[in-house]
Amino acid sequence: MNREEALASVRANVGNENLVRHMLATEAIMRALARRLGEDEEEWGLTGLLHDIDVELTGGDMKSHSKLGADLVRDMGGSEAMARAILSHNEAHGVPLETKLDKALFCVDPLTGLITAAALVRPDKKLASVEAKSVRKRFKEKSFAAGASREQIGQCSNLGIELDEFIELGLKAMQDIAGELGL
Ligand SMILES: [Fe+2]
Repeated sequence: MNREEALASVRANVGNENLVRHMLATEAIMRALARRLGEDEEEWGLTGLLHDIDVELTGGDMKSHSKLGADLVRDMGGSEAMARAILSHNEAHGVPLETKLDKALFCVDPLTGLITAAALVRPDKKLASVEAKSVRKRFKEKSFAAGASREQIGQCSNLGIELDEFIELGLKAMQDIAGELGL
C-alpha cells in the first residue's frame, strides 16, 4: 500500500472534510513522531492517515468502529501492526496498547483536536499564529476543547516524550501542512 492509495481510499469512504483533515493531521504528527523516535515513518504515517476510515461506514457504532477499519487496512495490504494500532485506538474493544505504534496513535489522535481548536480561537484562525506555549496553556483549561482527552494526550510519556515536546512537535507537524488542513 502506498500513500496515494491510502488517501484515495480515505476519500472514497469519508465524505466529511473535517474528518479527512483530522486524519491528515494525525498522519503528519505520526510521521514527525516516527522520525523523532527512529521508527518507520511510512508505516506510522499511513496508520494515522487511515485510522478513522470506517467512522462513516460504521455510523457511530463504537462496537464496530476501528474493527472494520482494521479489516479494511488488512485488505488494503497494510501490516498487522497497523491493523492492531487502529483496533486498539478505540478503547471500546479493550485491546491493550502494547506496541509503540499503538501508544503513538492513541496519544496523537486527541492532540490534533486540541491544536485545531487552539488555531480556531485565533483572530485569523490560522495555525501559523499559534504558539506552543498557548497550546500548553489551553491544555490546562479543562473546558477548552473538552473532547480532546488530556489524559490520553498525556500518555505521550509512555513513549518517553515529555508533554511540552509532544505539543511542540505536533504543532510544527500540523503547521507544515496548514494549507491541506485549511488552517
Ligand atoms: Fe481519530
